[in-house]
Amino acid sequence: MCGIIGYIGHRRALPLLLNGLKRLEYRGYDSAGIAVPHGHGLYIAKRAGTVAQLAAMVDSLDLPATMGIGHTRWATHGEPSDRNAHPHTDASRRIAIVHNGIIENYATLKAKLQQDGYTFHSDTDTEVLAVFIGALYEQYGDLELAVRAALSEVRGTFGLVVLSADHPDILIAARRGSPIVIGIGDGEYIVASDATAIVEYTRSVFYLTDDEMALLTRSGCQTKTIDDIPTSAQLLELEFDLERIEKGGFPHFMLKEIHEQPQTFWDACRGRLLALEGNIKLGGLRSVEDTLRRARRLILTGCGTSWHAALVGEYWIEELARIPVEVEYASEFRYRNPVLSSDDIVIAISQSGETADTLAAVREAKLRGATVLGIVNVVGSSIARETHAGVYIHAGPEIGVASTKAFTSQLVVLMLLALYLGRMRHLSATQAREIAEEMLRLPDKMRSILERSQSIHSIACQYAHAQHFLYLGRGVNFPIALEGALKMKEISYIHAEGYPAAEMKHGPIALIDENMPVVIIAPRDELYEKVLSNMEEIRARRGQIIAIANDNDPDIARHATHVIPIPETLPLLTPFLTVLPLQLLAYYAAVERGCNVDMPRHLAKSVTVE
Ligand code: G6P
Repeated sequence: MCGIIGYIGHRRALPLLLNGLKRLEYRGYDSAGIAVPHGHGLYIAKRAGTVAQLAAMVDSLDLPATMGIGHTRWATHGEPSDRNAHPHTDASRRIAIVHNGIIENYATLKAKLQQDGYTFHSDTDTEVLAVFIGALYEQYGDLELAVRAALSEVRGTFGLVVLSADHPDILIAARRGSPIVIGIGDGEYIVASDATAIVEYTRSVFYLTDDEMALLTRSGCQTKTIDDIPTSAQLLELEFDLERIEKGGFPHFMLKEIHEQPQTFWDACRGRLLALEGNIKLGGLRSVEDTLRRARRLILTGCGTSWHAALVGEYWIEELARIPVEVEYASEFRYRNPVLSSDDIVIAISQSGETADTLAAVREAKLRGATVLGIVNVVGSSIARETHAGVYIHAGPEIGVASTKAFTSQLVVLMLLALYLGRMRHLSATQAREIAEEMLRLPDKMRSILERSQSIHSIACQYAHAQHFLYLGRGVNFPIALEGALKMKEISYIHAEGYPAAEMKHGPIALIDENMPVVIIAPRDELYEKVLSNMEEIRARRGQIIAIANDNDPDIARHATHVIPIPETLPLLTPFLTVLPLQLLAYYAAVERGCNVDMPRHLAKSVTVE
């Protein structure tokens, strides 16, 4: 979603703000802007387009300011345009704000301000907030009071930073529902909507909580609620370094992250998978161990790729722990009036830990008395903080908008959870050990698929101009078919659908002709023969089959147009291997089509609005 950066300290602010905006680009955006104090007023530059275009506008200017704010916007209210870009100002143009989130009562506030004679120059809810803060500042003559008063009247979500020409010695940051992290340097503070913009300056950070604000000066920082009650910030050390958020020789973050998976798989297992004993240690769940032992039902929830991970988790947990599992889109769960009791366990899965619908589902489930756990990547994120307990996936920063390594790391944690719950029940140490030992072999098997990516590249180029793709899989590989189709449509803009293979005859078969590439996941498992029959049905209709199959399968080539081989593993563990060719297929098709792989159109890395 949108990105925020703010700075107060002793360095020239402009280069730091632009650099921060570049780091935030991966979140998806359509316009960018900055504001710094200049002379007796503010200098503001903003425009639709890229951070590079914004930088070209301001690079030659000698702006000595040592504080300022910046923003990359992903349009919600009003089209992407110069006038709708942030920062927005109040009527005097002496107060500027950058804002993530949505002001839900903006129309009422705007009408009231218009009655009082204020005019507006953009279509955004953010400008309404800026003008409102300015109007209250005129009334009270106190910036902090004006910000607090405005934020108490606002409904909706915000992560914001306020800058005023009258107070070139203070930045005010505040949050409700949209993350704000503050980096602490030596006599300087860097505010951002995520830590990737901060890590090259400092590792010492704290996150604002909902309805909390920070008053930042060069000599110190004060935090309080927006009702003026002092709070104390909890300092954290950022664990990742700059190298992990740079491309490391790959042309795109997405390709780099695909190739990191053998390592991130291992990072998610480290210290948790006690293969020799056939046991699992999940320190983050210790406090809820008894509740998990008693659990009668699990509900897994998330959005997008995280929802697909949940679907795989459903198969695994039911199979290994014999606990009924339901999977639900967080956006549906939160509005469905779900039947929940204190015996239920809700598990929210989220890479960012900030997805608005997933966070709302967490809150709803807590309100109804369920135990709520998180499977999250971003340490200290809202979902990580608001759940009763949880397990971090430790995948490191994921920059490519289309999730890849976070998905396989979510799967690792779900498999560990299934084994952990299984071992609490009837799963024997021998059965658990067999799976655990095979898991330890998976990173090498993943690596061998990645090493053979050249053949996937040539298949992708051959079909890159197809209009549609169909993805089929069964059992644990049905969600992988959904994930493969999602990757393809997200980054290459080719229409793609995923189906359980047996459902093909209930509709999609009508679409098959010589122009329809069909990706079939066909590892040798108990459903293999049935998948072969599906392949024959497709061949009979002249569909083009790309089969993901075991490398020692002698028969498959007779049934498919192309075969992408994967090493053999236990049937339950195949998703870790079958998903890799699908990620690469989508990646290479998108590159071949000239698409912006890391920042696909209209998509955002973290969807913090409904
Ligand atoms: C967006 C991203 C997806 C992601 C989904 C859920 O749509 O583009 O890649 O899967 O949000 O995000 P989360 O951070 O909650 O996993």
